[in-house]
Amino acid sequence: TTTHPLATAPAPGVPLAEATPPDATVRMPDGFLWGAATAAYQIEGAAHLDGRTDSIWDAFARVPGAVVAGDDGEVACDHYHRYADDVALMAGLGLGTYRFSTSWSRVRPDGGPVNAKGLDFYSRLVDELLSHEILPWVTLYHWDLPQALEEHGGWTNRDTAYRFAEYAADVHDALGDRVGVWTTLNEPWCSSFLSYTAGAHAPGRRSREAGLAAAHHLMLGHGLATAELRRRAPSANLGITLNLTVADPVDPSDERDRDAARRIDAQFNRVFLDPILRGAYPADLLTDLAEVGLDGVVDDVVHDGDLAVVSTPIDTLGVNYYHGEAVSYRAPERELHGSAPVPRPTSSPYPAADGVHVHPRPLPVTDQDWEVQPEGLTRVLTRVHEEYTGERGIALFVTENGAAYDDVVGADGSVDDQDRLAFVDLHLRAIHDAITAGADVRGYFAWSLLDNYEWAWGYSKRFGVVRVDYETQERTVKASGRWYADVARGNVIPP
Ligand code: NOJ
Repeated sequence: TTTHPLATAPAPGVPLAEATPPDATVRMPDGFLWGAATAAYQIEGAAHLDGRTDSIWDAFARVPGAVVAGDDGEVACDHYHRYADDVALMAGLGLGTYRFSTSWSRVRPDGGPVNAKGLDFYSRLVDELLSHEILPWVTLYHWDLPQALEEHGGWTNRDTAYRFAEYAADVHDALGDRVGVWTTLNEPWCSSFLSYTAGAHAPGRRSREAGLAAAHHLMLGHGLATAELRRRAPSANLGITLNLTVADPVDPSDERDRDAARRIDAQFNRVFLDPILRGAYPADLLTDLAEVGLDGVVDDVVHDGDLAVVSTPIDTLGVNYYHGEAVSYRAPERELHGSAPVPRPTSSPYPAADGVHVHPRPLPVTDQDWEVQPEGLTRVLTRVHEEYTGERGIALFVTENGAAYDDVVGADGSVDDQDRLAFVDLHLRAIHDAITAGADVRGYFAWSLLDNYEWAWGYSKRFGVVRVDYETQERTVKASGRWYADVARGNVIPP
């Protein structure tokens, strides 16, 4: 039997019932889809080529101190020029699908008229994928709003939701004959609260009101785009990707800690799950917001009929999972540095969770100090299936999971990233546990195919199963990538 370097203890108070042992051979269900994911701004480069203009990330990267080392996506992995080689790399990894995003600023520079050259890039990419029998999985918004729209209020402006649906239709017009799987938004929690309330991500605003307005308008845009795509392609597979967490009370016997966990669940998970899948905001969330005087914002922003649009039926829910958190009303003795999503001090992303603290646990952490908590993924998937998606016949896909580690390059250029390999292994076992418990999980995407621009962390954090040498743009498949290829080909997690 092998001992996994990251074998974890269960979270406090959480029994790891019937977990798949780390040394068992695990077979995934037939047809399980294996993929890898990326996002436009994180890999493409060519940020001002062929008509593309600034997105909010180009602008944010210029703000002193906003991004580690002032890194930007001007060149990134130069995927815009190297996409054919990168697709060949994916084929070598045995991937059945590739999840990428389209850049709004390439397709409609400044949010204006359609740019044929921008769409052509994605058309070439899709053709390349199909020629290698890799299913293209398109995400329409992975955080790179045209800066010109931000100057009109960005996602705090209701009009942006309508502009998003137009842009979605343009991309569908260009690719819909060859692309059948569409994700409207990636992680709207990040593009609203982390971006407009915490100020940690572009556009770097710090306002509770702005974050709430952005969250609602993002969901409105999702609903409008879903309806528009459904009209054009009734049989397309449509969905959204949410980043979901498990928030556990540090002391489950203390009502105040349980309330802290409830608030984080409401303001991280249910604020999106409920409107999108049930057509209503959670009652406890509305009460929390009213207590801090934010009910007026909700009344202003949420118009009659919006929730019917937001809850337009979807086929697939994408779940991105990295870690959970233990929370308390008490301040911790030691701050968990990595509980902040970025290296600089920011405001709390939560509009109504003053006094809620994240406590570090005796768990291994990644290079970003994110706690390694695979059993949290089992709980997220079973919970979402049981409470939201199962009864609606909505399939689950883990559209992102992975870890940043400080890779060591060997003398021969190889990267023996056993920590990342073990991280993926444990999370795949956690998914298998969820499937065994009844959750309808149909696929997994490693985040990420390539080392890339990790937002406010710049190039300082590496998530790839393939290493990128940013000086030469050379790609090297890491040990985790070779292992993942075997898993994908065999549909089996080896002991
Ligand atoms: C979530 C995001 O979708 C992706 O862009 C990011 O790089 C990873 N998580 C890792 O932080």
